[in-house]
Parts: sequence; structure tokens; C-alpha cells
Amino acid sequence: MYVNPRRVRKCQFVQLFATCFILSLMIFWGPLDDGTFLDYVKSYSYRYLVNSYAFVNESLSLSRDNMDRVASYRYLINHPEKCQREDILLLLFVKSSPGNRYRRDAIRQTWGSNKYARSHLDANIRTLFALGQLKDSAHREQMQNWLQAEDEKYGDLIQQDFMDTFHNLTIKLLLQFSWVNRYCSHAKFVMSADDDIFIHMPNLIAYLQTLAQIGVQDLWIGHVHRGAPPVRDKTSKYYVSYEMYPWPAYPDYTAGAAYVISGDVAAKVFVASQTLNTSLYIDDVFMGLCANKMGVVPQYHQFFSGEGKAPYHPCIYEKMITSHGHTEDLRYLWKQATDPKVKNISSGFFGRMYCKIVNIALLCRIYYQGTYPCMAAVF
Ligand SMILES: *[C@@H]1O[C@H](CO)[C@@H](O)[C@H](O)[C@H]1NC(C)=O
Ligand SMILES: *[C@@H]1O[C@H](CO)[C@@H](O)[C@H](O)[C@H]1NC(C)=O
Ligand SMILES: *[C@@H]1O[C@H](CO)[C@@H](O)[C@H](O)[C@H]1NC(C)=O
Ligand SMILES: *[C@@H]1O[C@H](CO)[C@@H](O)[C@H](O)[C@H]1NC(C)=O
Repeated sequence: MYVNPRRVRKCQFVQLFATCFILSLMIFWGPLDDGTFLDYVKSYSYRYLVNSYAFVNESLSLSRDNMDRVASYRYLINHPEKCQREDILLLLFVKSSPGNRYRRDAIRQTWGSNKYARSHLDANIRTLFALGQLKDSAHREQMQNWLQAEDEKYGDLIQQDFMDTFHNLTIKLLLQFSWVNRYCSHAKFVMSADDDIFIHMPNLIAYLQTLAQIGVQDLWIGHVHRGAPPVRDKTSKYYVSYEMYPWPAYPDYTAGAAYVISGDVAAKVFVASQTLNTSLYIDDVFMGLCANKMGVVPQYHQFFSGEGKAPYHPCIYEKMITSHGHTEDLRYLWKQATDPKVKNISSGFFGRMYCKIVNIALLCRIYYQGTYPCMAAVF
């Protein structure tokens, strides 16, 4: 292959310049750094000018003798037979907590229903809830009895014996990936979602069916965070120490609220997760590190909401995939969003024009910072 030497020199120059620029930012502004603004300047410059995360592999990989020490947790409730069918389109893991029975029931009756997917969407999906143990030891046994009873009724809980806490979310991620690897490696797609999310299952399944038809691989799709800086504010829930992650930016990752990967990516991420230090407890960032190590890049989908809540409107429902922050209104939204009338509103020339205008009005407001980008309304 012929490579223009002048171009090579130009590339090297840009990279050198970028590296100097970022180093100078770190040196001059590092000590004064008290706010997030500079964190963002540093992380975006890193992301868009250097964008190399080779240090992750070098610094966060476990040595051989450490690998044996990696804790493995025991299953308290498991269903190895859940995925026995050959043609599983989607394995859906919902990250739940022992006390969230109310949310699980709402999900079972709405978007999580495997029966609905079978009868209305012609797809085999499996919805499972990933859990740890109640942290409060005084009530743990009682809770465990309730969970056993719930599981006898529905048979959809997967629980291991780690404490179910925010700082153990990466362990919950490992539970999901090791379960997929062991019991469901033939699923075409795997999804991980929070238990306060709404998923427009008809839209999602239709989308995945078209992807399955073209045999898509290397898929990781969701609401992508690009060049996000680690939070250095000690009072934040997402605080990450320099010791844990000394670099200015995380590799790109999708919001943990809901994302979809193809089966081959699940296998790759599982392999990487066995070799990296799991002390970084922000699960979606950890997933980003694993994927980065395996060369998997996340893709942005305009109708995956990330942390935001979508506006309520039939013109939005027509295309939405996920929306975050729904607990009390899940049944209501499910009913509204899957009503056959929704498709009618946006059909025909006038319907399309009407929905375009409504969506622009809803998503392109100046101070609107929520779910879907303005671009999603325009195109
Ligand atoms: C990652 O690091 C390991 C050793 O820690 C090395 O064997 C491997 O080749 C590295 N992979 C990449 C993609 O650099
Ligand atoms: C995570 O779970 C383990 C195992 O149960 C427990 O020892 C540890 O304290 C938990 N960590 C946090 C931060 O809750
Ligand atoms: C993982 O990283 C932490 C620092 O964040 C360190 O204290 C710990 O020893 C590392 N664990 C392994 C198994 O290397
Ligand atoms: C939707 O429109 C079709 C014709 O375009 C009509 O037959 C059908 O009854 C409508 N459905 C509803 C629920 O309004």
C-alpha cells in the first residue's frame, strides 16, 4: 500500500500537538482544578484529539496470580434452563434490587412479558431480573423467603450472594455476562436495563429483527457518552478516585439505563471482564473498558434515552425505544404507547407533517435536555 510520507508527517504533527496541548492543560490547570468545566475541557480534548486507551489494558489488567483471587459469587436463585430454546432473539437482563417487587411486577405485565412478545411480535425473548442480596442483615432472611416465593410464581429471578448495593453494580454486570456466557450464548441479542425504564418492545423487536436478518455483528447500541470525565467531586455518587482511574476521560460507553449488544459482543465483553480489575464500580464505564479492550465501539441510537424521560405524545411513541425514570406510570405509558392508534396518527402525508412539527416542538426547545436529540425530530 502506498502511503504519502507528507501525510504521515502531518498526522504525527497533529498528534504531537494534541499531546502537548493536553499535557499543558493538565500541568497548568491540574492544581486549580475544582470544577467540572475543566474536567470536561480535558476529557473532550483527550477524547477528540488523542483518543487512545491503550493504558487500560496495560494498567488495569490483572496479573495471573490475581486472577485466581477474583471473587466468584454463588447463585442463590438460578434458572439454567431458561434459554433452552434455540431461537432466542433477545435475552433481557433487568438490573433489579430485592426490595423492588413493585417494579418487577409492572415490568412483567408490560414490556417484559415474554408471552406478549411471542403472541404479538412473533419473537422469543427472555426477561430475567439480576439481583444481589439484601444488605440489611436483620431483614435478609425474611426478604429471601419473599424472593423465593416470587420466584416460584414467575421463575425469572437470577440472584447471587453479593450485597445488592450501588457500589456493587459492576459485580451485577459480571453476573449478567457470566450467565449469558454459560447458559445463553446463542441469544442473538442481549440487553441490560434498569428496573425504572420503559422499553417500547414492539419498536425494539422490529428493529432487532431487521438487524438479525442481515446477520449484524459487533453491535453495541444505546445512548452513547463520548469523552466523559471521571467525577472527582468526593460528595458525588459517581466519585472515582485518581487511584482507581488516573486518566482524564473514559472510553466511550452507553448509558447503563438500557443498551443492546449482539451475541458476539457479549462473548467478547465476558472475556475482557475476566482480565480487568473490577474495582471500578460504575458498571456502564466498566463495560466501556471491557469493550474498548476488545475493540468494540458503541453506536448512538437517537431513540435510546439515556438518563432522560421522554415527552408523552403519540408522535414520540411512534419511534421511541427506551425512556428512563418510569415506575408509577409504567402501565399507563405501556397502554398509551402500544395502542394501535399511535401508528395511525403519523400515517399519511398530513400525519407525517403533523408529527414532524410536534416532535420539533417537543425536542428542539432551547432548554430541553432530556432524552432524544433535536436531530431525531428533524430527520
Ligand atoms: C493487553 O495486555 C496483555 C498483557 O497484560 C497483552 O498480552 C495483550 O497483548 C494486550 N492486548 C492489547 C490489545 O494490547
Ligand atoms: C459488595 O458485596 C460483597 C459481597 O457480599 C461485600 O463484601 C461488599 O461489602 C459489597 N460492597 C459494597 C460496596 O457494598
Ligand atoms: C484493583 O485496583 C485497586 C485500585 O483501584 C487496587 O487497590 C487493587 O489492588 C486492584 N486489584 C487487583 C486484583 O489488582
Ligand atoms: C387506523 O387506520 C386504518 C386505515 O388507515 C383503519 O382501518 C383503522 O381502523 C385505524 N385504526 C384505529 C385504531 O383507529
